[in-house]
Amino acid sequence: MSKRTHIALLIFILSSYKCLAGIATQNLRCEMLHNPLGIETIHPRLSWQITGEGRNINQTAYRVLVASTPTKLAANEGDLWDSHRVNSGESIMINYAGKALISRTACYWKVKVWTNKGESQWSQPAMWSEGLLNTTDWKARWIGHDGGFPWDSVSKFSRLSARYYHKQFDVKQEVKKATVYIIGLGHYELYINGNIIDDQVLAGPPTDYTQSVKYNTFDVTNAIKQGANAVATVLGNGRFFTMRPKYKPKKIKEFGFPKMLLQLEVEYTDGTRQLIVSDSSWKFTADGPIRTNNEYDGEEYDATKEMSGWNNTGFDDSKWLKAELVEAPGGRVEAQVNELIKVMDRVKPISINQLKSGTWIMEMGQNFAGWVKMHVKGKRGDKITLRYAETLQPNGELYVANLRDAKVTDVYTLKGGEDESWRPAFVYHGFRYVEISGYPGRPELADFEGEVVYDAMATTGHFETSNPLINQVYHNAYWGILSNYKGMPVDCPQRNERMPWLGDRAVGSLGESFVFANGNLYAKWLDDIAQSQKPDGAIPDVAPAYWNYYSDNMTWPGTYILVADMLYRQFADKAPVEKHYASMKKWMDYMRIKYMKDYIVTKDKYGDWCVPPESPELIHSKDSSRNTNGQLIATAYYYHLSGLMQKFAKLLNKPADAQAFAVLKLRVGNAFNQKYLDKKSFRYANNTVTANLLPLYFGITPVASSKTVFKNIVDKIANDANGHISTGVIGTQWLMRGLTEYGRPDLAYRIASNDDYPSWGYMVKHGATTMWELWNGDTANPAMNSHNHIMLLGDLVAWFYQDLAGIKTVNEGFKEMVMIPPVISQLNTVNASYETPYGVVKSSWTNNNGHFTWHITVPPNSKALVYIPAGTGKAVTESGHAIDTIKDIKLLKIEGGRAIFRIGSGSYIFEVKS
Ligand code: BGC
Repeated sequence: MSKRTHIALLIFILSSYKCLAGIATQNLRCEMLHNPLGIETIHPRLSWQITGEGRNINQTAYRVLVASTPTKLAANEGDLWDSHRVNSGESIMINYAGKALISRTACYWKVKVWTNKGESQWSQPAMWSEGLLNTTDWKARWIGHDGGFPWDSVSKFSRLSARYYHKQFDVKQEVKKATVYIIGLGHYELYINGNIIDDQVLAGPPTDYTQSVKYNTFDVTNAIKQGANAVATVLGNGRFFTMRPKYKPKKIKEFGFPKMLLQLEVEYTDGTRQLIVSDSSWKFTADGPIRTNNEYDGEEYDATKEMSGWNNTGFDDSKWLKAELVEAPGGRVEAQVNELIKVMDRVKPISINQLKSGTWIMEMGQNFAGWVKMHVKGKRGDKITLRYAETLQPNGELYVANLRDAKVTDVYTLKGGEDESWRPAFVYHGFRYVEISGYPGRPELADFEGEVVYDAMATTGHFETSNPLINQVYHNAYWGILSNYKGMPVDCPQRNERMPWLGDRAVGSLGESFVFANGNLYAKWLDDIAQSQKPDGAIPDVAPAYWNYYSDNMTWPGTYILVADMLYRQFADKAPVEKHYASMKKWMDYMRIKYMKDYIVTKDKYGDWCVPPESPELIHSKDSSRNTNGQLIATAYYYHLSGLMQKFAKLLNKPADAQAFAVLKLRVGNAFNQKYLDKKSFRYANNTVTANLLPLYFGITPVASSKTVFKNIVDKIANDANGHISTGVIGTQWLMRGLTEYGRPDLAYRIASNDDYPSWGYMVKHGATTMWELWNGDTANPAMNSHNHIMLLGDLVAWFYQDLAGIKTVNEGFKEMVMIPPVISQLNTVNASYETPYGVVKSSWTNNNGHFTWHITVPPNSKALVYIPAGTGKAVTESGHAIDTIKDIKLLKIEGGRAIFRIGSGSYIFEVKS
């Protein structure tokens, strides 16, 4: 062997030693986003995932490089930040700590990690950019038109046409980079040289625009050319110009007419910059094809009014009006950091049947929120009307009674001649059926496609079991959850409501966080909630407070605190706790000072909302034995939320606050037991499941009584309710986990697998493809009966993942998990996965008469305690080997019929033979 070959071999051996486990990094994120543009935090948090073969991979050190250009990054020149080697196991939410970042800085970054199993190469590069951090960066002016036009009507059922804006400009030099910063209220579309910029829809997130208005940043370098260019926008109403102005003015918040702020910055290769900004040099018209757009009532598009080339160069805008400078909406101008809304999925219709001459009913096969994209060929002036509904009447017509006064009607007028295709721009519908009338000829299935529209968040969870009914319930939950994300979580997507009600997401948000990467959306929502807080501390039930509901209760506003805790636990996002602690505390103080008497909270509004009522047409039960005392609910929530505030105070290093909340909590708990716990029967109040469950689950119940209290719950469910659900929105938030944690997962499973009234399965049996607002959604009064509402899910989805699959974090962000799958004789298989911040966790188990097999994957840099149903460690094998022969799996103890092992990352197959 020559000396050269010798050295080469040595290098090879050394490098393969270094990367024995093929260590690499992937999925680089900045502020939980992939390559975000225009963020505003100057110490953004960076996260990565580690991959590698084998087990027990733990990061021991990292090095992050951040460079101002891709070339510098490629040359390993971290001119913005070189963290150097940091000995640390932390791989998520690492604060950027480099040079001060200023407006517009583009940051290119990569990471390299060292682990106990070798080191990685540098990762693929990722990037982020800073937005406009100072108000003085904005040279653009707000433009709009504060009034309607003769064809508009600003009455209760407002009709307002879209506004089209246009501006031409010249680019004289070679462009290095071009960036648009835009706010279009309520919604906008942006075009450059005739091309739509990006694939977002319903752009511009809903906020209380007097508090905050969010801009989007787009890199449009490739859209700009040398010579003449045109930038153009269309403005729709969204929530800015409200759907029901002059309706109940006190109830509905109005913001005015659509307006826009746009700044296009073109950077030349010689370093100079040209700004094209919204100002009075722009031209506009409202006499274009979108004649009206109203989220409740629909959109009307007249293609005969299309203005050829309006969004491109060379368009003659001399007949257009001069853009007007208008007042700013009032809110702080800030970057949108939650995901944009996009077309996320497509649904093919399954049938089109003729209802009567010229009228057809199309079935999509799935209830969802979005719209129908239609292809058509016909005569100029032909008018097609599309109406949407969730169900049909027995006579085959649409059932629209439960949509209240929402008209949900889109009208398309053909320009004629060639093939035309259309979908609305600024409205969406919640529907499963579409009535088509006026379609030229026979509408065919291929002419229509449903576009499913929601915030572009990754689907992170997968869950299935051996029970097809539960799988369908999960399917319905999945479709219900995605339907109700629209830049904020709303209650329903179809009727004249679509409001961000807080109570609907109190605990549901936790279950949802397993299904979608919703961390940024919920963080944004907490800002909405904070912005809706009154100076005295009151938090409303709907935020942004488009509807005025400051009813002062614990359960709806309490979502503010519960969601902050969810973000911390699920995503390791501590920022919301830091940011909102003071407002949360203010609200807790407000409720205490105003409503607490002898440590009992005397104010409640909704009770245990929507318990299964005693008769089929009722919305709310009148039977007092089904309903739970409101003050009991409010006080129990105060106790629980004080506990979370105590935890937050500790986290933020505020020992005095933590102590004060601890003392308050104790006193509230004592008063609660004093008032509601019967010392003889150990029943709480009127002994509903909710009345017993809240104190038990929250830890108010004295330990000595907890067995009896739990027995009350079990008896109630098993005997009085015959194994069915009897709780409303409040009790159901803790029910499935409560039953499981106290030892009756079988009863939780029974509730989940029922298909008769009342149950989630009953909805499935009655044809539901989403979740209903009411347990009796097939028979109840239409006044409040949506078929796509997710509040009744309670903790069901959280239970699916945390308990049935056993994917549960111990601390923040799944650094360590505790996996305890229940043994339920009727359930053979659960197969689930979830993408944690560290990577994908898999948990699939089968249980055939005590023969238990469990496939687990734990991502690198994370670990788990696994609870295997076995009386001894010896009964357990892993990948066919006796467990005591495997050195890196540690048996910790045997407890309650479980062998508890600690495992590190990697894949495992545990088996216990019966
Ligand atoms: C909404 C609910 C909401 C409730 C509270 C209903 O109209 O649809 O989801 O939480 O009102 O009053």
